[in-house]
Amino acid sequence: GRQHVLLIWLLLYSSMVEALEPVGTTIAIGAVAVTGVLVRSMSCYFNECCQPEWISFNITKLERNLDNKLFGQHIASSIILNAVSGFMRNRNPKKPLVLSLHGWTGTGKNFVSQLIAESIYKKGMKSRFVHLFTSTLHFQHKHRIDTYEAQLQQWVRGNVTDCELSMFIFDEMDKMHPGLIDSIKPYLDYYDNLDGVSYGKSIFIFLSNEGGDNIAKTALEFWQAGKSREEIELDDLENTLSLSVYNNKNGGFFRTSLIDKNLVDFFIPFLPLEYEHVVQCAMAEMEARNLRPNRDVADRVAKEMIYTPKLDRLYSSTGCKTVQNKLNFYI
Ligand SMILES: Nc1ncnc2c1ncn2[C@@H]1O[C@H](COP(=O)(O)OP(=O)(O)OP(=O)(O)O)[C@@H](O)[C@H]1O
Ligand SMILES: [Mg+2]
Repeated sequence: GRQHVLLIWLLLYSSMVEALEPVGTTIAIGAVAVTGVLVRSMSCYFNECCQPEWISFNITKLERNLDNKLFGQHIASSIILNAVSGFMRNRNPKKPLVLSLHGWTGTGKNFVSQLIAESIYKKGMKSRFVHLFTSTLHFQHKHRIDTYEAQLQQWVRGNVTDCELSMFIFDEMDKMHPGLIDSIKPYLDYYDNLDGVSYGKSIFIFLSNEGGDNIAKTALEFWQAGKSREEIELDDLENTLSLSVYNNKNGGFFRTSLIDKNLVDFFIPFLPLEYEHVVQCAMAEMEARNLRPNRDVADRVAKEMIYTPKLDRLYSSTGCKTVQNKLNFYI
């Protein structure tokens, strides 16, 4: 069959060349080339592709969103703005950007990942260049760890080959099998390229609750010492954070060479949220639903949360996580 097609093609081609003058041939080739470019740009017009039309960093948007939409996370907010904008400014980064976000449930880790994605990809989290892995969903079975390692490597390599500016989010790192993450370690390291693929422009974000208790403890100590929340600095948290993460036997980071080799660029603490932040979340949620924000309703939602420690009732134990559902009862 193949030879037939070739033969027909040759016949057609030679008769075409005969029919066209040299000038005609040039025009024909030119027309084909122009059509190619047009088709490509048309398809990029309608479909997302790895081009600046679809991927370009908007620092103003990130800054505005962090300032206005993320509550109570002054440390995370400033590190993320600096880390992401520094990385995106660098035309030739030596390694991918690797962020590890830590804190109690409902404090904004997924939310921030979404804000980062929205500042880079036109389609935000829906972009085909943004990949979200959830340990309990994608890497569920312990006995399949070897398969997962191979799949993960392939998936990451394939996608970065497709688009250098890819983003990978690993959710629930604390429930990930220790060791799995080591399988992508080479990609996070300082290599110009590995087998012809360079990973330097990609972003990796790890999310976990690990270290959350230590962060909350430090926050509480500040409060007990009469200091304001905003006085807490990264230095107060960073060391205990990376240590507790490293030594957590059950977490995906346990003794991983990712930490040994300093491949994580930033450990980012998320502080536990206070009553007032929960109120802010409720107000923001009403606004997002095109309702007039109502402080009374927000107060009622916030009062339903459980706060710890029991005595002081300072920090919402589920952050803002259930605000959206609770709100449904009042509106
Ligand atoms: N600091 C915050 N500022 C504003 N909104 C927040 C904040 N934290 C949480 N929220 C709201 O609560 C929702 C749930 O938070 P998110 O999913 O980001 O929590 P998480 O830190 O990823 O928790 P988990 O550890 O359980 O995964 C968000 O979609 C957002 O609407
Ligand atoms: Mg989350």
